[in-house]
Amino acid sequence: MMSTLHEAQILSIAQQGEPVLAQLAQAVSNPLEPEVQTLIRNMHATMLAANGVGIAAPQVFQSLRIIIVASRPNPRYPDAPLMEPIAMINPEIIWQSTETCLGEEGCLSVENTRAQVARAEHLKMRYLNQQGEQIEAEYSGFVARIIQHEVDHLNGVLFVERAELAQD
Ligand code: NI
Repeated sequence: MMSTLHEAQILSIAQQGEPVLAQLAQAVSNPLEPEVQTLIRNMHATMLAANGVGIAAPQVFQSLRIIIVASRPNPRYPDAPLMEPIAMINPEIIWQSTETCLGEEGCLSVENTRAQVARAEHLKMRYLNQQGEQIEAEYSGFVARIIQHEVDHLNGVLFVERAELAQD
């Protein structure tokens, strides 16, 4: 996906408190629309510039159901898999394990904050890829964690809200 990054634009990232981060994002009607393809390219460039491992469209002020998942080994998750970034359009969690695991999360929209969040260890997703094809696939561990964090953004939820719930 998204092999050419030239002409991609770095977008500004919404910070906690922006209304767009609390909204329910809308489904994308046609993934092949040039505006959607451009948005995905720009989200990817913005995520890379910010050194993130995932990003959701509401974080760049677009209330649409699009996420990018891009795990790679990093200081907090040295065993995280290196993967080709995946754009998921209208992603749905169609199954998740009752087995959860705690892990540290941060967010490009919540600067200087890290917290332990419990997430399902395994899940099965249904989404449209960047070519508009319906995909069903299973994910585990750190990748599943990124997906759950990003899908939360589409539903107006920030990880700090889940962390607070866990501490109560
Ligand atoms: Ni986030």
